[in-house]
Amino acid sequence: MPDVYAPTAPVALVTGGNRGIGREVCRQLVGLDHVVLLTARSAKAAQEAAAELGPGVLGIELDVTSEPDRVRVADEVRERFGRLDVLVNNAAVAYDTWQRAVSADLDYVREAAETNLYGPWRLTQTLLPLLRASRHGRVVNVSSGAASLADMGAGTPAYATTKVALNALTRILAAELRADGILVNSVCPGWVATDMGGPGGRPVADGAAGVVWAATLPGGGPTGGFFRDGVRVEW
Ligand SMILES: NC(=O)c1ccc[n+]([C@@H]2O[C@H](COP(=O)([O-])OP(=O)(O)OC[C@H]3O[C@@H](n4cnc5c(N)ncnc54)[C@H](OP(=O)(O)O)[C@@H]3O)[C@@H](O)[C@H]2O)c1
Repeated sequence: MPDVYAPTAPVALVTGGNRGIGREVCRQLVGLDHVVLLTARSAKAAQEAAAELGPGVLGIELDVTSEPDRVRVADEVRERFGRLDVLVNNAAVAYDTWQRAVSADLDYVREAAETNLYGPWRLTQTLLPLLRASRHGRVVNVSSGAASLADMGAGTPAYATTKVALNALTRILAAELRADGILVNSVCPGWVATDMGGPGGRPVADGAAGVVWAATLPGGGPTGGFFRDGVRVEW
């Protein structure tokens, strides 16, 4: 990693930063004078996206399901910055509109959980000493309205159950990390026109803005909440 960044700038790590909402979150955070660690499971994709977004964005290989990747990235962040101010758990898979719970492939559900639940959970654990070293740690778990129990109906069983579990993780971590001053929230970006969302959704910038809002909350801001566009939504 090049040693060219002001150590006082907030340091943010975004997973799945090579495309879609994650990439736009990186773009908005660097615009807010963060040093952005744009991570992607392809090193090439990470580096290309970082180069496109310009100075202040570093591309780093990180498959959230890979323990060696998580450990290497934590080592790099520790050596270069000594802390992490913002973690955005954005990477996700398996918007399984073709499945129904009554007949779902449970192996597929378990695989989805590796990326959508255990990946962010393990990454947060691995980065926790660095988040604690920040004076204003923020964790944003990018969730979905599909995880809202209040609205839940048939379909997308892998996606919905893993995002519900991610929301539970948000609540538990928020309570456990409150004393450390680390704010942990879930954010639904709304329906956004990405590869996952498909055409017809709202602009990526609008979906990313609510994520960036939670990533840049002031001290004393909310924790353990579920938000869309900075407004609470029902669990
Ligand atoms: N779009 C919507 O309408 C919508 C609505 C509600 C919630 N969300 C949530 O918003 C977030 C971003 O969604 P999106 O629409 O931007 O999705 P997307 O366009 O499909 O992008 C998903 C990103 O996650 C990455 N990813 C997948 N598995 C990974 C892994 N194991 N390790 C690291 N990165 C991995 C992908 O990398 P590759 O390029 O390598 O595949 C890609 O960068 C997700 O959490 C999604 O559930 C989206």
